[in-house]
Amino acid sequence: MTQARPHRTQVVAHRGASEEAPEHTLAAYRKAIEDGADALECDVRLTADGHLVCVHDRRVNRTSNGRGAVSALELADLAALDFGSRKSRDFWRTRDEEPDWEFRPEDREDTSVLTLERLLELVADAGRPVDLAIETKHPTRWAGQVEERLLVLLKRFGLDAPAPAADSTVRVMSFSARSLHRVRAASPTLPTVYLMQFVSPRLRDGRLPAGVRIAGPSIRIVRNQPAYIERLKQAGHQVHVWTVNEPEDVDLCVGLGVDAIITNRPRAVLRQLGR
Ligand code: G3P
Ligand code: CA
Repeated sequence: MTQARPHRTQVVAHRGASEEAPEHTLAAYRKAIEDGADALECDVRLTADGHLVCVHDRRVNRTSNGRGAVSALELADLAALDFGSRKSRDFWRTRDEEPDWEFRPEDREDTSVLTLERLLELVADAGRPVDLAIETKHPTRWAGQVEERLLVLLKRFGLDAPAPAADSTVRVMSFSARSLHRVRAASPTLPTVYLMQFVSPRLRDGRLPAGVRIAGPSIRIVRNQPAYIERLKQAGHQVHVWTVNEPEDVDLCVGLGVDAIITNRPRAVLRQLGR
C-alpha cells in the first residue's frame, strides 16, 4: 500500500482551486486549503537559474502579463510578472485574445510566481495534513535536473519519503516513465504516479511501468474504458483521475472506486461527496 491513511476518495485541487483563483498562485492554493482539499496538485519547471517554479505551460504567455519560456527566464524575471492578470480555460488561447472570464479582485492577491519552495512552506503551515501531488513537466529536456532539484527540496522539508499517517505526504507524477524512474532511483519509497492521456497497448492488461503503483488516467480514459480502471484496481494499483470537473464524472469515478479525483473545483466536489 502506498497510502497510509484509511481509504476514502481524495479530492485534489488541480493547480490550486484554479476555477476560483488564478492557477498555480498562492491565492489558489490557500483557497484550496480553506475549502478542505485533501491534496494540492502542481506542475513544476526549472528556471534558467535553476529554481523550481509552479507553472504549467512551457511559456508564461497564457498565465501572466509577460512572454517567454520559463526555461529562458530567471526567477527574478518571473518575480516581476503578474500571474493573476489573465485567465483563460483555453490552453491554446493567444495572449491578444480576451480572457474568457475574470477573477474577483479578492481572489487575485498573491499572484506573483510561485516557487515550489513557497508551496512547501504553505503546506507545512496548513495546520492539517495536506498532500502534494507534484508533476514534473518536460523533464527530459533537463536530463535529470528537475528530479534532482525536486528531491533536494523535498529532503529539506522531510518529505522525500512517505510520511506517518497523520502527516502531509508527497507523490511525484509524470507522463514520463523515465522521470518517475529517476525519482525512485534517488528516493525508492516516494510514491510515483504514471499519468496517461491514452492507454498504451503494452499497458492494457493493467500493468504500470516498473516500480510505479499509482495510475493517473485522464477522465476521458475513465469514461471510455471503465473496464481498464477495474483492471488497474484488480492489479492492486491506486487510480488518480484528472481533471474531473463535472458532477456526473465525479459519480463515475466514485462508482469505480478511484482513489483520487483531481479537480479545478475542490469545493464543489467535496460538497458533492457530502464532505
Ligand atoms: O494532474 C494531472 C494533470 O494535471 C495532467 O495534465 O496538462 O493539467 O498538467 P495537465
Ligand atoms: Ca499537471
